[in-house]
Amino acid sequence: MNRRVLRACRIAGMLRAQKRHISFHTPGHKRAGADITELPYSDNLLSPSGVLDRAEREIAQLLGADASYLLTDGSTCGIFSMLAALRSAGGRSVAVPAYAHRSVFNACGVMGLMPVVMEQETVQGIPSQPSQAQMAQALNGADALLLTSPDYYGFFPDLAAARRLCDAAGKPLLVDGAHGSHLKGTPLYAGGFADLWVDGVHKSLPALTQGAVVSAKGVWAARLREGVQTFRTSSPSYPIMASVEYAVRFPRNAAIEREAEAARRALGGLENGDWSKIVVPFGDRCDEAERMLMAHGVYCEFNDGNYLMFYLSPATKRRELKKLVRLAERLPRGKCVFGAPVRGMVGGNIVLLAPEAAVGHTCARDCGRFPPCIPLVRRGETVTAEKAELLASAANTFGLTGGRIAVFEEG
Ligand SMILES: Cc1ncc(COP(=O)(O)O)c(C=O)c1O
Repeated sequence: MNRRVLRACRIAGMLRAQKRHISFHTPGHKRAGADITELPYSDNLLSPSGVLDRAEREIAQLLGADASYLLTDGSTCGIFSMLAALRSAGGRSVAVPAYAHRSVFNACGVMGLMPVVMEQETVQGIPSQPSQAQMAQALNGADALLLTSPDYYGFFPDLAAARRLCDAAGKPLLVDGAHGSHLKGTPLYAGGFADLWVDGVHKSLPALTQGAVVSAKGVWAARLREGVQTFRTSSPSYPIMASVEYAVRFPRNAAIEREAEAARRALGGLENGDWSKIVVPFGDRCDEAERMLMAHGVYCEFNDGNYLMFYLSPATKRRELKKLVRLAERLPRGKCVFGAPVRGMVGGNIVLLAPEAAVGHTCARDCGRFPPCIPLVRRGETVTAEKAELLASAANTFGLTGGRIAVFEEG
């Protein structure tokens, strides 16, 4: 814990100052402590006027927003809230990258927004960010532009170009910054460009899991409040909220940023521009490399079958990063297997097949390894033997039903 940061935190200060009391209120564990509910002294997130209001205002100032809202339901809730704000302003469609997080498509479905999908070419197995021309074209047929910045692999879209396009079209720019909150105060930060953006504070800053912030500027601030009030929980966790405030106030760690760059170079990681995500190609020996690291007590963020991704934050310890480099330098490297092109959307009856039986069939539902929760096989794509094997061997997946792939029935 950084004591100086902690002293500046409103919510943590309130929790420290609370008196012991007898609980005839939720939560049911009945233990007084940090996990309290809305009490006369702890404010109310649905209508904040005390400590939560102050914390939200100060967070907005730190993030360069006109309004910021604490979330205890992850970036998912922020994405739903941003798209609800767009819908309430009369928006009917939004341009989105094909490999946007599933919450974007879910929110569009729930709110009746049409996603105008920008196809993403995969380069070395990683979806590339939409080009300026793709953004311009998609924005022509949509009421807003939503980008992911950075993506799970640490790559950035051209946010300055996106801003110019949105200004010229008079349409809002929304940014899913689930992986970008460590960039606040830098020229790469989403808040420097977007009208509405979400910070997944729990991913790249030291906050508890599910802690996030959604922010807006100008007229979007009030609309976003409505969205937030619709989607966020009515029982927010005080430990999570306190950790979000702590994380947003957490300073940059120049030493770890420098060492991350050195580690990336030493390991042959991709040049992605995001120090917090070291993406190292191990190809078809990814599983072996991951197992060897785990045997030494080292766990990565994800293994997508080509790359292992190591997620850092300003709280990463230098000695742990050094250990990773020492171990990973000696690990086996294999050949990367990159995906087949997407055939396009098709329809028909859907059947479920075991991965090996699904080879050669057309996928009917996006599915992949989790995380990164980016489809490995997309609807319309032919299931290849390599990808079927990657799905069959994954510890966690999404989009499968009982381990089986949804494919279109043939003939
Ligand atoms: C790009 C992106 N957006 C949004 C989310 C959702 O974030 P959360 O899990 O905090 O709801 C994720 C989760 O991994 C993500 O990768």
